Order: sequence, then structure tokens, then C-alpha cells
Amino acid sequence: MTERSPALQILAVYGTRPEAIKMAPVVAALKRRPEAFAVRVCATGQHREMLDQAQELLGLRPDLDLRLMRHDQTLNGLASAAVAAMDEVLAAESPDWLLVQGDTTTAMAASLAAFHRRVRVGHIEAGLRTGDLGHPFPEEANRRVIDLLAACLFAPTERARQALLAEGCAAERVHVVGNTVIDALRTISEGLAGPPPERPEVLITVHRRESFGAPLRGIFAALRQLAEAFPAFDWLYPVHPNPNVRGPAHEILGGLPNLQLHEPFDYRELVRRLMRCRFVLTDSGGLQEEAPTFGKPVLVLRETTERPEGIAAGVARLVGTGREAIVAEASRLLASEEAWQDMARAVNPYGDGRAGERIAAILGGEPWTPFAPPHP
Ligand code: UD1
Repeated sequence: MTERSPALQILAVYGTRPEAIKMAPVVAALKRRPEAFAVRVCATGQHREMLDQAQELLGLRPDLDLRLMRHDQTLNGLASAAVAAMDEVLAAESPDWLLVQGDTTTAMAASLAAFHRRVRVGHIEAGLRTGDLGHPFPEEANRRVIDLLAACLFAPTERARQALLAEGCAAERVHVVGNTVIDALRTISEGLAGPPPERPEVLITVHRRESFGAPLRGIFAALRQLAEAFPAFDWLYPVHPNPNVRGPAHEILGGLPNLQLHEPFDYRELVRRLMRCRFVLTDSGGLQEEAPTFGKPVLVLRETTERPEGIAAGVARLVGTGREAIVAEASRLLASEEAWQDMARAVNPYGDGRAGERIAAILGGEPWTPFAPPHP
């Protein structure tokens, strides 16, 4: 029998692009301390092309790749395949800790498999809540399940910690570390600032499952109206490969000279576009967290958000999915310098770039200082 090293055995798992981006700083912080941690990395491959891109850029090399993506996969198909595959991985690896990030089906299924195997789960980005199981779907349910099962809850903000305490989580399980996406963003954005674009740009991302169908068509109708009403602006939309998004996007938004439907940008290109855009229209959680670093106003194309810190700080607004509201709010930012200035402040309530090292310190049982946001 081979002897087990005295270092803590940590298995980090992720399946989609945003999880890889947000897990990378934690893996990097743990790998800087080989005497304390033996880290193995597992990609479920819930996403394929988008995950490969992100891993390459962030230097993440999975030790295991479960290759689970199927075209038009159902949630139950994906979840059951992920539980079964993770069960085998956990049996073979028997780690001390399984680390998951966020609220995807990968994170939820891996946590459940670890719970059944009595492996401790550490949840990065714990405690985000909208209070509505239908928005975002299925993520709100996923994150609640993970938080229930996890032994260690890495909350990004004080508000997330309060949400966990209100649900009865023991205070010693909960740690406020900041969001790891800010660590990743700092690394990636170094040296990226270029000259401003010739024409001002607006960055768009839309992909949420609960918006499929009528809400998505409402959003796209608004975007079409805005691009036609403001021809001096370039409207950039990297379209998510999900066929439920791609189909209507091309149908409703195709053929406009100043609205470009792109393949998904790799993360570096996304950050570059974010740094030079005028503002952002998005339903993505990650962009709500990233944009304030560069002082870019965010209009959130959702009915609820689990990230109200940006709204409280005045750098984001919850606009919904209705055509008229989107057109009105975006027009205001485009037409009034004052309205834009009011939101264009570089104040980030989500993190300070040190979340990865805090998580490593907590897992190693060392002293650390919680994340506290800057005063606006
Ligand atoms: C998933 C997550 C969502 C996260 C999003 C980030 C779940 C249920 N949803 O949503 O929380 O915000 O990722 O992107 O976990 N596809 C490809 N290539 C890819 C990726 C996806 O072709 O690289 C297509 C496939 O047809 C796939 C479909 O997109 O079936 C949907 O992928 P899936 O992971 O089920 O959901 P997302 O909408 O990407």
C-alpha cells in the first residue's frame, strides 16, 4: 500500500466556464503550498468548447475530465450522469475535501455525491439567494442544496453570510472571503488596457434558462429597438452556444449593421471588451461582479438578483426582461452623461483579489482576515 502524504488531499471540481474562472484562483493558492495541500482537479465537462478555452487561459490542467456534455442535455440527464461519475471519482480519490463553486448542476451533483461518500464539501460563493426557486432556475435550488450539505461555506460578502445564518447555518461554518472572480479578473486584466474603440461599444450577454421563450424574445426585441435607435453605438453580443439562446438571437437580432452576434469571447477578450465598453446589459452573475471593478454601469436583465450589493452601491440597476423597461433604462444611460456618470464608479463590493489565499488559509487552519468592502 502506498503511503498517503501528510498534506490535505483536496479535489476541486468544476464543469462550466464560470466555475473554472472562479475556481482557478483557489487552485493556484492551494498549489503554492505543496507542503500543506495535495490538489487534484476534476472537470466534469458540463460545457465543452467554452470550458476548454477558459482552462487554457487560466492554466488549469484537469487531472480528470469526465466529458459529460451532450447536445441539448436535460437537467436530469446531466445531474444523474454527474452524480454517477463523481461517485466513481470520489471512490478512487478519497479526498479530505471536495471543493465546488457556485450553483451549477455540476456543483450540486458533485456535492451530493460527496455527501453520500461522507467527504467534506467546501462551497465557494456560498449564501447567494434571490429567495425565489424559479429565478434563477435551477441555480437557486442548486445553491441551497449545496449550502445544506457543505461543511465549510465560503461566503463572498457579509450579506451572503447573513443569509446563511438566517437559515440556521452554524456561524463557525461560514467565512466571508470575497468573490474569487475578482482574483481572476485582476490576473487577467493586467496589461490588457488598450486604446478606446473608434465607436463607443455596449456589451451584452444573455443566457439564463428561466428567460428561455417569451422573456428572451422580449429582451431581444428591446436590443433590436436600441441598436436601431442608437446607430452611433456598436452593440456587441457574444452568444452563448445553448440552442435555446442561439436560435432566437439570430432570428431576432440578425442583419443589424451595428449589432454584432459573436461566438463566445474567450475570457481575456471578454475582459478587454468590458474594460472599453460604455456599459453592460446582462443576465450573468459574473458580469455583475466584474463590471464594477472597471467602473462600468450594469443593467441587469432579470426580475431578481442574488447580487444586490452592486445595486445598493449604485453601480447596477435591476431592469427586468420587459422590452419597454430595458429600452427606457438603456436610453437614459445613452442619452444623459449625468445618468451615466452617476453609475460609472469603480467601487467593487464583491471582492479585493485575495479570496483564493483566504480560502487556502481557512482550509489549512491558519489565521486570516475576512473580506471587507471599500466604502463608496
Ligand atoms: C450553465 C449553468 C448556468 C451557468 C452557465 C454558464 C446549469 C443548469 N446551468 O448553463 O448556471 O450560468 O452554464 O455558461 O448548471 N453548449 C455547447 N458548448 C459549450 C457549452 C454549452 O454546445 O461549451 C450547449 C449544449 O448544447 C448544451 C447547452 O449548451 O446542451 C446547455 O448547456 P448547460 O450546461 O446545460 O446549460 P447552460 O445554459 O450553459
